[in-house]
Amino acid sequence: MLSLNKIAKCLLSNSRTFQTSAVLKHDTMFNHRDTKEDNLDIKFEFSDENKKRIDAILAIYPEGHKRAAMIPLLDLAQRQHGWLPISAMHKVADVLDLPKMRVYEVATFYTMFMRKPTGKYHLQVCTTTPCWLRGSDDVISCLKKKLDIGVGETSKDGQWTLSEVECLGACVNAPMMQVNDDYFEDLTTKDVESIIDDLKNGKTPTPGPRSSRYASEPMDGLTSLKEEPYGPGFKVRPDL
Ligand code: FES
Repeated sequence: MLSLNKIAKCLLSNSRTFQTSAVLKHDTMFNHRDTKEDNLDIKFEFSDENKKRIDAILAIYPEGHKRAAMIPLLDLAQRQHGWLPISAMHKVADVLDLPKMRVYEVATFYTMFMRKPTGKYHLQVCTTTPCWLRGSDDVISCLKKKLDIGVGETSKDGQWTLSEVECLGACVNAPMMQVNDDYFEDLTTKDVESIIDDLKNGKTPTPGPRSSRYASEPMDGLTSLKEEPYGPGFKVRPDL
C-alpha cells in the first residue's frame, strides 16, 4: 500500500498546470442595485400603442410557447423607456406569466438590453478579433477623445453612451460600430469623427460601409466565382 507521502509526491509529479482564461470583463454590472432611476417604486406600464404591438407579437406564437416573445417584448419596453428598468422586466414577466427570474436571465445575458440610463445615441463598437485586427482600438480611442467619455459611460448631457461589444455580425466590413439601430462599417477614425459631427449637427449620417463598396463584396473585385454560373440541369443525367 502507498503511504500518504508517496501519494502526495506522485500527485505532485503528475500535476498539470491549470490553464486559466482572461477574466471576463464587461462594462455593465448585471446585478441589480436600487438607484433613484431604477427601483421597484417606479412603475412601468406599456403605452396603448405598445399594448397593441404586444397583442400582435403574442399572436405569432402558439399557445404554450408565448414565452418565446420575451426578447421582442423586452425590446419594446426598452424602446419605450430608453433603457430597461427592473419594473419593465417585471411587467414583461407579468405579460408572459413567467417567474421574474426567467426575464432577468434573458435581459442580463444580451448586451442589447441596457440596464441603466442610456444616451440618446448608443455607440456600440465591436472589438472582437476581425474588428480588432482592422483597428477597433483606434475607433474606441477616437470616440473616447471626441466625446470625453470612457467605455460603459454616458456623457453628462445624456447624448452619448459608449459600449464595447462582441461580434455584431458585420466582420467582413470590419471595423464597425452600431449607432442605435444603424451599422457603420469599414471605418477609419476620420469616418468616426464625421459620423459624430453629423449627429451633433442634427444630421443623419448614411449607414453602411464607409469605403467605396456597396455591401460586403471584395474591395478589389471578384476573387472567386468568376465563371458564368452553371445553368439549370448542370451535371444532371441527359435522360432525366
Ligand atoms: S468581429 Fe466585429 S462584427 Fe464580427
